[in-house]
Amino acid sequence: MAKKPARGWKPEEPYNELPDLPPAAFLETPAVLKAALAARAAVAELDRLAAKLPNPGILVRTLPLMEARCSSEIENIVTTDDALFRSADLPDEAAPPEVREASRHAEALLEGFHGLAKLPVCSRLAQQVCSRIKGHPMAIRRMPGTILASRSRVMYTPPVGEAVIRRLLANWEAYLHAPKGADPLIRMAVSHYQFEAIHPFTDGNGRTGRILNSLYLVEAGLLEQPILYLSRYILANRAEYYRLLNAVTSDEAWEPWVLYMLTGVAEVATWTAGKVRAIHLLSESTQKQIAKKCSDLPLDEIMRAIFEQPYCRIRHLVDAGIAKRETASIYLVQLTKAGVLTEIKQGRDKLFLNHRLVALLTNPEDR
Ligand SMILES: Nc1ncnc2c1ncn2[C@@H]1O[C@H](COP(=O)(O)OP(=O)(O)O)[C@@H](O)[C@H]1O
Ligand SMILES: [Mg+2]
Repeated sequence: MAKKPARGWKPEEPYNELPDLPPAAFLETPAVLKAALAARAAVAELDRLAAKLPNPGILVRTLPLMEARCSSEIENIVTTDDALFRSADLPDEAAPPEVREASRHAEALLEGFHGLAKLPVCSRLAQQVCSRIKGHPMAIRRMPGTILASRSRVMYTPPVGEAVIRRLLANWEAYLHAPKGADPLIRMAVSHYQFEAIHPFTDGNGRTGRILNSLYLVEAGLLEQPILYLSRYILANRAEYYRLLNAVTSDEAWEPWVLYMLTGVAEVATWTAGKVRAIHLLSESTQKQIAKKCSDLPLDEIMRAIFEQPYCRIRHLVDAGIAKRETASIYLVQLTKAGVLTEIKQGRDKLFLNHRLVALLTNPEDR
């Protein structure tokens, strides 16, 4: 039986009495179950549409970048999707610090995704993800001194003591993987609070926790690819995010927290599904345009290359074995003349932008 929250919880004191999961409060209320059902349906539809895309790679190359940008912005690291798309395959030094930071976040998400083959969502995976985000090895906190503050007011002090933190993480892992647990989306919401409340690292807990959400849905079989774009919703509803996290601690207010997360999942899944439909349509019309205006180009290969990522380089065509450097360059110039791509200079490199794809991805509307 889970413990009740300590009556004497004080924001300035380490919350070593953080109750184990599952929450003592009854969680599967009609409102929660209804929201979970709606969110499940939206995620299932997204998963179905994503699998039908002619270039499924496009989502996994763009959405984790966009997720990373929003997740970083929640922590006030501000960059743009465009800057991220452009530097997606550049060496670290070539990008400004905030772009680098958000790119590392996206890499952490993809690395975690590939890591799922060997490791479920667990503290070891969390440590790998956090180290990747921060760009140096991160360990479970050993020292006191980590606090969560807002405008110089202490809001929450996480548990102190490595043994306490490890014990809480073990309980968190058991909850995530309990054979007869609640709906995975409800568990994702509950465990996200718990992970943030445990706050196992000195920094990067928010971003790591949000990556673990995406990975958990893949692990639970709800999504084939880590394309949950929840940080978009959290960023747009950031004050609520902090307020509701805190209300779980102070008032055991689980239901509003879980409803917040489930609503977010449904919203972003629906938004993303709209984008996937639009990508499908764009892909069809682009294919027709190329066939008509550049009929001598290898259509399928070109389509794959310009929809694989929003920015195409000559090197990409060469690496994909589509053409030698000179011919590849001619192809891209032809596509630019036909209005399919836009040429942009980046240092000595030329970038060919699939401008309609970028517009579609970054436009807030779900069309
Ligand atoms: N009152 C709170 N209780 C628990 N967790 C919180 C609270 N307020 C904020 N958080 C979480 O802490 C995160 C910030 O922690 P931090 O380690 O600095 O992560 P990052 O460096 O990724 O921002 C927030 O994104 C949020 O997830
Ligand atoms: Mg931080």
